[in-house]
Amino acid sequence: MNTGTLIDPSFADTQIMSRLDPLQFDAGEFGQSFSRRPFRISHSLCDNPLFELPRLLELAGQLPENHIEYNAGKLPLTVDQSLTPANGLSVEETVRRIEECESWMVIKWVHHDPAYAELLDACLRQIRPLTEQITPGMRQPQAYIFLTSPGSVTPYHIDPEHNFLLQIRGSKKVHMFDGSDSRVLSDRDFERFYSEKTRNLEFREEFRDHGWEFNLQSGQGLHFPVTFPHYVENGPEVSVSFSITFRTPDLERRRMVYQCNHRLRRMGLKPGGWGRSALADQLKYQAVRVTSKLGRMLGRGD
Ligand SMILES: [Fe+2]
Repeated sequence: MNTGTLIDPSFADTQIMSRLDPLQFDAGEFGQSFSRRPFRISHSLCDNPLFELPRLLELAGQLPENHIEYNAGKLPLTVDQSLTPANGLSVEETVRRIEECESWMVIKWVHHDPAYAELLDACLRQIRPLTEQITPGMRQPQAYIFLTSPGSVTPYHIDPEHNFLLQIRGSKKVHMFDGSDSRVLSDRDFERFYSEKTRNLEFREEFRDHGWEFNLQSGQGLHFPVTFPHYVENGPEVSVSFSITFRTPDLERRRMVYQCNHRLRRMGLKPGGWGRSALADQLKYQAVRVTSKLGRMLGRGD
């Protein structure tokens, strides 16, 4: 096994994976790539009854309505989030007819069900000793299940969490782009994402040849670094995938700095992006933190 330069060698003993562990990965590659670039992992969840369609239907029926998002699945790469078309079916019909209804569905925050919480916990318990050495402070663990019809497309977008996508059934082609490259994602894109809460981005054709492409089959998984843009094409079968996510305090600071920059830009200034000046980042972080706190004390949201 390759040993990564970022991982404490004393940690090696805890990385002996057992057959009962849900995830399998190379600890060296994990240490070198986590939060920097995508990398493949594998998992042993394909036969887990928690991902069978009748169980997913039961889960969708038990969770509050706002945990379910579903819409038409044959979409262009660039879509205004507020204009995403509905598929015209109920949640139950969507799950039952997923093979032919050309839809995309996400069941959010499935860890509110204890059985899924246990599974999420088992996955994160395995990776936490590694992630703590790179981005400490794992918090807000969340899990999502994506259920997609054959040929569906998830438009080009970014996500705010550390993410591992585990392909349970069917296949997906993931197209991912380097979110740390300012030609792909500008400071203004970050400011809009963190301030206007819109995930979808405009896909430009010049990106097409400058990204990674991963064919994910059942039993395989992929790490999505935070805010690395991607779009996903579903294979010719129904797809079920499990997304395990979490956040860390550095992401919270970055969000606040970009929110501050968004305000400064609206005032006609040209603020420097996250990471260019530790002092400026600290001042902006504190400014937004204090403003938000004052806002809460005065009874208004921010
Ligand atoms: Fe995503």
